[in-house]
Order: sequence, then structure tokens, then C-alpha cells
Amino acid sequence: LTIPKYESSLVIPPAMPFTTRGAVEYYEIAVRQFSQQILPAGLPATTVWSYGSVNYPATFNYPAFTIEAAYRRPVRVRWINGLMDASGNYLPHLLPVDPTLHWANPGGGTAGRDSRPVFEEPPGSYGGPVPLVTHVHGAHTAAHNDGFAEAWYLPNATNIPAGYATKGTFYDYFAAKSPIGASWRPGDAVFDYPNDQAPATLWYHDHTLGMTRSNVYAGPAGFYLLRRGPGDLPTGVMPGPAPQLGDPAGTKYYEIPLAIQDRSFTEDGSLSYPGSREFFDQFAGPYVPDSDVPPIWNPEFFANTIVVNGKTWPTLEVEPRRYRFRLLNGCNSRFLILALSSDPVARPVTPALQFWQIGTEGGFLPAPVQQRQLLMAPAERVDAIVDFTGLAPGTELYLVNLGPDEPFGELTDPPEPVADPQTTGQVMKLVVVPLASRDTSMPPGRLRLPAFKPLGAASTTRSVSLNEEASSVPGFDGPIAAMLGTMGTDGEPVALGWDDAITENPNTGAIEIWELHNFTEDAHPIHIHEVQFQLVDRRPFGGPARGPDPGESGFKDTVIAYPGEITRVKALFDIPGLFVWHCHIVEHEDNEMMRPYFVGPMPA
Ligand code: C2O
Ligand code: CU
Repeated sequence: LTIPKYESSLVIPPAMPFTTRGAVEYYEIAVRQFSQQILPAGLPATTVWSYGSVNYPATFNYPAFTIEAAYRRPVRVRWINGLMDASGNYLPHLLPVDPTLHWANPGGGTAGRDSRPVFEEPPGSYGGPVPLVTHVHGAHTAAHNDGFAEAWYLPNATNIPAGYATKGTFYDYFAAKSPIGASWRPGDAVFDYPNDQAPATLWYHDHTLGMTRSNVYAGPAGFYLLRRGPGDLPTGVMPGPAPQLGDPAGTKYYEIPLAIQDRSFTEDGSLSYPGSREFFDQFAGPYVPDSDVPPIWNPEFFANTIVVNGKTWPTLEVEPRRYRFRLLNGCNSRFLILALSSDPVARPVTPALQFWQIGTEGGFLPAPVQQRQLLMAPAERVDAIVDFTGLAPGTELYLVNLGPDEPFGELTDPPEPVADPQTTGQVMKLVVVPLASRDTSMPPGRLRLPAFKPLGAASTTRSVSLNEEASSVPGFDGPIAAMLGTMGTDGEPVALGWDDAITENPNTGAIEIWELHNFTEDAHPIHIHEVQFQLVDRRPFGGPARGPDPGESGFKDTVIAYPGEITRVKALFDIPGLFVWHCHIVEHEDNEMMRPYFVGPMPA
């Protein structure tokens, strides 16, 4: 399939509709299956899954419409698993699901690596019904609202086979903790978000145990923009026929969220994801079963096409003015290194324009930082202003990607190796059009960001580890899957799986430093739920510490842990309950690179 570039216009996801119920902004959001033109016109449409507002069919879009939330205005969402056809029968999965991992496994009864499902599906895969549970990534909310990986639930379909579990082991546990658990219905869960955190670029996506990579690859993800907290910039202006002028403070930028993802497509326009380990058979995985079900899981997946806001290689017309981009790396495995170049193909890149980074995952940086390039691991967000002022109409620029088409190790200057300059090395085209109205916004270098309040001293320092585990399967040796774990008292790491007893148990209200010791060969983006943390420093094993990179000096929820280094983060654990921390390479997350952790007194 040859996909011409820059034929589609960038789509800006509109705001998700809601209703006001007293003080609460109430959403009813389902995941459904539908067809969307992701490839350029003339090529086939693609069947995807994504979120939409149940009463407005036109709101179903990949990526999802944006939840526009306001500081301290609570949001309540009824999250509905709507993966059913018109007659209420469940829909099969669009993509291969590996039943040999530790996964939701509705057909196998209690989830667990030792329980094997009964297969009526094509061998090696699981057809459905599809479990889902939504996590708002970066949200500060109680555990029962967090989208725990084993709190998944099936659609309320009429044809669920007898004996299938319709919900995960922890669904009822969290429903019982929710003050409104009684109003959860079959096929849904109702989660509350107090929005009592700094204004930030959050996002929401599926988080089902052992199948997040295949569920999210099919589409369900969207932005959740929290605004209007202390010191927030005014809501930006979407470019359009009648843009509003800047506000008196001069901080109204044209504002555009950009969800960057890699996807592969078959000739008929379908999403393509590996259905075997044909190309990765050196990776046996720790849980190859002793059955004849072939394993499917691959340790990473690098697709061959870049999709921005649901269009392959789109074009955006920009006026010669300042734009605020909310960037999300929504890829499964791919680290992005973004730059703005006047030549899409030439490497190394001479940046044509710089980014003024103003924020990270958790909110604003202490001050704007000028960046030639933006390194973004999966799930990281960057809030950045680009100043196109003075560019002549007709000027063409390209957002290019210098990240590798393989696992990421370290950042070199220039980056090496780089993605294929003809395909995944290109992201989006920007064409300058005449200025439609005066730009009264603040030059980004003069922008005052809200005062940065660092966390106080930590009461506990905790050592955890990232490990490569050898296969237990005869005939395979070598490291094959990464696992999290602790550090033993002898200084050696102890790898632990999802089902091992909880080892991270901060006190409620404690400020802790977590030292992430990475014993693997690759960099991993580590995400801790519930908190926004400060990156303290990184140091090579036995070497000197260095501070955060300039773009990492705000609050973050996902951090790159480099191989052979200790990455230290500091966080306030102020909400009691059961959460998770994990690698956000979703292939890793799905194969044991995720651990539960508990804040406060653990139930017996
Ligand atoms: Cu973006 Cu635990 O997830
Ligand atoms: Cu990882």
C-alpha cells in the first residue's frame, strides 16, 4: 500500500459534549466500532474503535473528542463498553490478542497466567467479547476511578458465552469503593475526576490487563485538557474563519492538540498489527504456554506510517503567528524526536524554527525553554509554542521525526539511528498562509508562567528496578521480556510480576523518592499513576548525577529511565488505595512490565 503524504488536512478534535448536573460536568462516553477515513481520500477507509458521546453519533472519532475540563470543576464519566453490533451481539477484536500472556482473559474465568482459555477462535488469537477499562492518564483521582487494569468489563452483549467472566477480578472491589458504584450498570463504570491539580495536558485511553497494546492500537484514546487553574493561560483559540483576538494579557495563542501515533495498514485499509512472532522468534517471552496456542506477543512494534489526529501525514495551514501545540506521543513503542525543518528528508536536520516548550505532562515548566528538538517517549506530553511570525505565505515546513524505528537507547547529537526519512521520519507538513488577523499574543520568550512550587523533602527513598528476564522455555535463552521489581538488600535486583505481592506501599501523604534502577538494554518510559512527580536526577551506575533536561523541569507523570542508570523521581502520594506503575511501551506493560502499588494501610 503506497500512501501519498500531505493530502489530508489536519483534523482538530472538537470538545466532547457533556451535561451539567449541579456542580458536576457529566459525560456518557462509549467506545464503539466505526469506519473512518484515516488514509487519504481515494484509499479505503479504516475500521477503528474510539470514544464518543453516546447520544451524538457524530462525536465518535479517532482520536476521541477532547474532554475540556476546568480546575476544581468535577467531571463524572459513565464509561460504556459499546463494542457491540446493532443487534447487541459483541464484536470480535480487530487485532490479534495473545492469550498466552497474563491478560484479562474473560473466557478463562479468573485471570491468571496459569488459567488457559478455551479457544473457539482462530488458533492463537482471541476473538471477543472485548474487555475495556478507561484510565485518564495523569489524573489525580481516587483509586476506584483510576481504571485499574483488572477492573475491566465486557460490553453488555446478549451473546456472551456461558462461563465467561463479564468483569475483571477488581471490578466489584472498586465498584464497592465508589460512592456511586450502585449506579454502575452492566457494561459500564462511572468514574469521577475532581480536577484538583495544576492545569495540564492529560489524555485518556484503554488500560485492560495484557491487551492495552491491541485495544489502544485499534483507536480508543483522546485528550483531556485541564484548564483554568491558578496561573493558567486563557483557553486558546482554534484557528477558524473568525478567530477571536488575543486577550488583554496577550496570552491567547492559536492552540492545537497533536496526537502523534504510528500505524500500519493493509491494502484494504485495515489496521495491521503482528499476529505472530514470525519476525521476532528470538523473543520467546516468559509465558509461552505448554499448549499448542502459538504466542503472538512481540516485545515492541514499530509501524510504518505516521498518523496525526487520525490522518496519515496531514497538512496544517498556519498563519505567520504563534501557535500553542499540545503534543502527545501516542505510539505503542516508538520514541519520537521532533524537529521543524524546511526539508522533509535531509538528515541531519537543520531546524528551521525552534519550539518554546512551556509545559510537560503535569503542567507548566518554571519558565519557557527553547528547544531545537523534542524527545518524547510513549505517553509523554509537551506543551510548546512555535512562532511562525514573519514567515512568507507559501513557506513550507515539515514536522519531522528523528527517533529510531527500533527501541530507543540514548540521545545523541545528532540522533542516531534515525527513522526512515521517507516514511516514519516525517510527521506533518505546515504551509504558511496569509495572516488573517493581528497576533496580539505574547512572544513566548517573554511569557510568565505560574510560580513553580517544588515538593518538600522526602521521608522515604525507595529503590525499584527494571530488569530483563530470561525465558524459562527450553531452547530459548537470552533476555526476552522486561519486568519491574525491587532491589534486594544485597544490591541485586529482584524481578517481580503483576501477581507478586505488593512491595511499594507509601504512607498516605508521604513524599517519597523512587530510584528507578534500569538493568535492561533499552530506555523505558516509566509512568506512576495517581501522582505528578518531579524528576530529581539521573546517574549512570557508579557515576555522577546530572539534573533533569531543560524540558523535564516541571511536574511529570512519565519519565525516561535510561539503560544502566538510576533515575530518581519525587512524588507526593496523597490518595490512599490501589494503583499501578508501569512501563508505557504498551507491549512491555502488557507482558509483566507493570506492578500494583498501594498507598496507605493495606487491607489484610
Ligand atoms: Cu497511559 Cu497506566 O497509562
Ligand atoms: Cu519498557
